[in-house]
Amino acid sequence: MNILAELKNRFHDVLAEIAGDSDVQSLLDMIKPAQDARFGDYQANFAMPLGKRLGQAPRDIAAQIIEQVSVDDICSQTEIAGPGFINLTLCSHWLTEQVNAAAGDPRVGVAKIGDPKTFVLDYSSPNVAKPMHVGHIRSTVIGDSLARSLRFLGHQVITDNHLGDWGTQFGMIIYGYKHFVDQDAYQQHEVNELSRLYRLVNQLIEFWKSKNSLEMQQQEVEHREAEVVRLEQVEPTGDKKEDKKQAKALGRAKDQLSQSRKTIASLQATIAAVESDSQLHEYAQQHPEIARHALLETARLHEGDETNRQLWEQFLPKCREEMQRVYRRLNVEFDHEYGESYYHEMLPGVVADLQQAGLATESEGAQCVFLDEFETPMIIQKSDGAYLYATTDLATIEYRRKQWDVDEILYVVDHRQSEHFQKLFAVARVWNAPDIEMHHISFGTVLDESGRPYKTRSGDAVGLEGLLDEAVSKALEVVSANDDRKPNGPELDEAARHHIADVVGHGAIKYADLSHNRTSDYVFSYDKMMALEGNTATYMQYSYARVQSIFRKGGIDVESLREASQSSQSSQSIVLAHDAERGLAKMILRYSEALENVMEDYRPNQLTNYLFDLAKRFSSFFEQCPVLKAEEDTTRQSRLQLCDLTGRVIAHGLSLLGIGVVDQM
Ligand code: ARG
Repeated sequence: MNILAELKNRFHDVLAEIAGDSDVQSLLDMIKPAQDARFGDYQANFAMPLGKRLGQAPRDIAAQIIEQVSVDDICSQTEIAGPGFINLTLCSHWLTEQVNAAAGDPRVGVAKIGDPKTFVLDYSSPNVAKPMHVGHIRSTVIGDSLARSLRFLGHQVITDNHLGDWGTQFGMIIYGYKHFVDQDAYQQHEVNELSRLYRLVNQLIEFWKSKNSLEMQQQEVEHREAEVVRLEQVEPTGDKKEDKKQAKALGRAKDQLSQSRKTIASLQATIAAVESDSQLHEYAQQHPEIARHALLETARLHEGDETNRQLWEQFLPKCREEMQRVYRRLNVEFDHEYGESYYHEMLPGVVADLQQAGLATESEGAQCVFLDEFETPMIIQKSDGAYLYATTDLATIEYRRKQWDVDEILYVVDHRQSEHFQKLFAVARVWNAPDIEMHHISFGTVLDESGRPYKTRSGDAVGLEGLLDEAVSKALEVVSANDDRKPNGPELDEAARHHIADVVGHGAIKYADLSHNRTSDYVFSYDKMMALEGNTATYMQYSYARVQSIFRKGGIDVESLREASQSSQSSQSIVLAHDAERGLAKMILRYSEALENVMEDYRPNQLTNYLFDLAKRFSSFFEQCPVLKAEEDTTRQSRLQLCDLTGRVIAHGLSLLGIGVVDQM
């Protein structure tokens, strides 16, 4: 039962009658859970805007609405407060009925959606052969959680990992392999050696890029120095406005100068890193054209050159295996992993089609799609014939449209690609997919404690896995310390501690990511994400384990508890007598509301917020209401039921975040 949806339902016709159909939805959205128990359970604020619009007193309108709406069976009280708030208090017996129904429902009270759609979720999508980094966690866990939630609500979901398996990084490792491979190292661990080659080639390319632009940058600095000197020598004119302008110009020139000096410093650092290493320096001298040649290797691969094609076929499975290991650890699976290479053959057709439709035109030798909304066009084929990332994305949309008859595509990709997606959606709308809804589910950057983008230790080929390892080892410390502190001595053996640490460590990383509003940056901190109190996976897992420990202590068999409650003997079912019981039951029933909020703008943090609220309610229930020591047997049974249902909702909510639970911590 979604109580909020039910209330909206009840008010719908009355509001439509009073306000006209036009914006009933926005009025209905003004029904919200009450912030404070004094204002009932839910509160509606629509009488104020309606009063303004109709030129009547909001209290009168509120009275009129209450008069007409039929909620007697679910609300015990409808009260007008202040300027015209409507406070709704739910009938206790109705609430009791609903919470018992949720207890007997494998879906814990969440109904399937009435109008399911077909979604394609495009997430994770790393560029293979480059080491995976912390940003990939974001796309992976946000996408995975959205896929799980959409599926649970009854949508058809197709997940597709759009691997970057065809881009310039392959030209780089092919070049690296041809010139620098260490065969022993390659035999021992292919992917580590390929990553090393990637980093080596990248470093040499950056070296030459810096070298070649240094002179120009130095001239730039000289030019700017001269400009500062010139501006400093300008005599004040005595005219206030004029002098202010001068001062501003000088300030700007100084800023530009310091910016240019910084650029030089970073170029010099890149150069020095190579020159200070005799081996690297020798390589650099031997490969002055490395950037151009690496691009040529990519072009050869795309043209079907046999050697390059063979190398690519040899490298790709290794890179994929490596990634699969990370996905297995994260418990993430995809329906498809077509990758960019899959669409290669379709690209000429895309360009031809866009030309035929009159959408693509030639500009400076390149094929471009110009759109009124954008200053710059989308380039779909370069003058040298090469296709681009955008061309592949267009082909991908066409493929998904034909293959799956999709209603909506979600791209979970970091915010720096937002312009790419805006253009992509605009072109697809006019070209082939006017009916497909597309969203860029963008996300912010993971920062370190000093506020800079979080970097896994450089030179560490297993960056992302290292991060997970560290989380698990920190979790082991937390779990062990917690166990050692138990009043009757530790309860867990080594194997159990390790298993729990695994679930807690991976859960902590995922939850920390998902609990932040996806569009904001967040600071990565092991200590915060594993705190036993607060909005963390650890706290949720702890709350779940607490329920299980009540059952263990009381020798409760959960299966018979559940059966007893469903056998329609009311003495075994949930009774809401205490305020804390009522509060907890109400929160349990808000699970479907939380999921609806997630879907509103695809924000999993709506679910973590809810779980945190639920866990807090549970904790206050537990403080106020003895369970095993309850005086009456019916009370004890009822409270055990409530504990069980809470545990089920927590475990279920966590499962939609891709996070597991343990019975004991
Ligand atoms: N491989 C890309 C990158 O790492 C992300 C791909 C996202 N998906 C897409 N259909 N463009 O930047």
